[in-house]
Amino acid sequence: MKKAFIVGLVGFAGAALIAFNAYSAGGPKTEPLPKAKTIAELAERYDSSRCMECHEDAHDEWSNSLHAKSILGSPRTAPTIITAVEKGLKLFPYSGVKNDEDITVDHLMMCMKCHLPQMDEATDDVAREIVSTIRSWQKAGKAGDEDTMEELEETIASLNIGCMVCHNKMALIHKWADGYPQPDTVYGSQEGDHEDEQFDKMAEAPALSESIFCGQCHGLGPNFELDHPSQCATIYGSYLYSYVAHGGSESCQDCHMEKSGLGHDMQSYNSEEMIEMALDVKVEGRSMFWRKNKTEGVVPIGIIDVSMHNNAGHVIPDG
Ligand code: HEC
Ligand code: HEC
Ligand code: HEC
Ligand code: HEC
Ligand code: HEC
Repeated sequence: MKKAFIVGLVGFAGAALIAFNAYSAGGPKTEPLPKAKTIAELAERYDSSRCMECHEDAHDEWSNSLHAKSILGSPRTAPTIITAVEKGLKLFPYSGVKNDEDITVDHLMMCMKCHLPQMDEATDDVAREIVSTIRSWQKAGKAGDEDTMEELEETIASLNIGCMVCHNKMALIHKWADGYPQPDTVYGSQEGDHEDEQFDKMAEAPALSESIFCGQCHGLGPNFELDHPSQCATIYGSYLYSYVAHGGSESCQDCHMEKSGLGHDMQSYNSEEMIEMALDVKVEGRSMFWRKNKTEGVVPIGIIDVSMHNNAGHVIPDG
């Protein structure tokens, strides 16, 4: 396997780190598919259930992760998207949004860049359908109509960060060097034929097992490339500047997928495994007497030393 990384430091108004890779995993930029016109169409294009048959473990694990419901969330995300519409888009004088009908894909990208990157393959109608579906779900919630809620939650969660978001769309990062993802290929750690009907090839994604892969969505800070930069997740920034800068050498995948034993069920404080890995807490206490002054005399005092060490590769919490 040709995996020659040449990392060059280019001094140009500060230092820019550019990774060149000799192995061409992808290919030329392909014609985009016709835009999906409905939630159902977009969900179908990225449906992970078709991979379940042969990758049962990965699928079971993934199903339990927040990636499997990346716009429904815990479920705090969907309501927060509505807040961003009401308290953001509709109040900003230059956003062009006065009513839900004015919402476009571009508007929602301030969240979907990371919560649903495949949104760029859909029409503005899908952006509006997402907002109206979340509104109906909230309404059903207020009315206590649990059946409708459950049904709509399924619709919302049918749009997610599924297998092909990571193993195709987001798999190749340095596209001028590694090429663009091809529509018939799953990207992992090997090359050759793949048994799936539509994705009948496998190729290597040079950065899939590195932190930068997760960094695409787990954030450095404000998303300056957007007309209206938003900020949500910042863990990749804190990983680089607080952990790696102090000698930390493990990757996101090392901790979250391997050491945790959770594989594709990437978790945080909702999982025992992660909580155990998170902190070392040492508490020492001692008592003594202190002669305070003549009138108050000798008073007992307690001294408690608490030391906490964060073992995560970044700040906690985040988001
Ligand atoms: C840079 C990528 C990125 C952008 C842009 C982004 N998010 Fe997030 N968001 C994440 C990630 C990753 C997490 C989960 C990890 C974390 O908490 O660090 C998250 C977590 C959240 C959570 C908490 C989730 C839960 O289940 O409790 C909410 C709510 C949320 N985002 C809403 C939004 C909204 C609304 C927008 C747009 C205004 C937005 N995000 C924009 C990446 C992003
Ligand atoms: C959030 C991104 C993400 C999603 C979603 C995702 N994967 Fe992965 N997958 C990875 C990463 C990263 C690795 C490589 C892990 C490593 O190198 O440590 C991987 C590895 C794999 C492997 C190689 C063997 C293994 O299990 O480690 C298979 C097979 C695989 N994924 C299948 C799937 C399937 C099927 C789905 C959907 C059910 C899926 N993945 C969803 C990121 C993802
Ligand atoms: C008919 C069975 C079948 C189906 C369906 C299938 N795969 Fe695979 N896949 C395989 C086999 C077999 C391998 C090779 C496994 C190995 O060598 O460990 C593989 C390998 C992979 C790899 C590379 C793993 C690595 O080691 O890096 C990825 C990624 C992957 N599949 C993702 C998917 C995704 C995503 C889907 C759904 C679109 C899918 N597969 C559907 C059988 C299947
Ligand atoms: C396509 C964007 C994307 C990629 C790539 C991605 N994530 Fe995420 N991840 C998210 C979003 C969005 C959420 C939060 C969903 C929500 O709650 O609304 C999340 C949630 C998580 C959580 C759960 C956080 C919590 O609050 O419980 C962990 C852990 C996590 N991701 C780790 C990883 C790791 C490790 C990788 C790389 C192997 C990775 N993610 C790759 C977007 C992404
Ligand atoms: C040295 C191990 C380690 C590394 C490296 C690491 N993490 Fe974590 N991460 C943890 C632990 C442990 C937690 C659980 C913290 C807790 O219980 O609150 C965590 C929590 C998280 C959370 C949830 C944060 C929250 O709001 O509580 C996200 C998201 C996450 N990690 C993503 C990542 C990503 C993305 C990377 C790589 C850029 C990464 N982690 C690297 C160990 C690690």
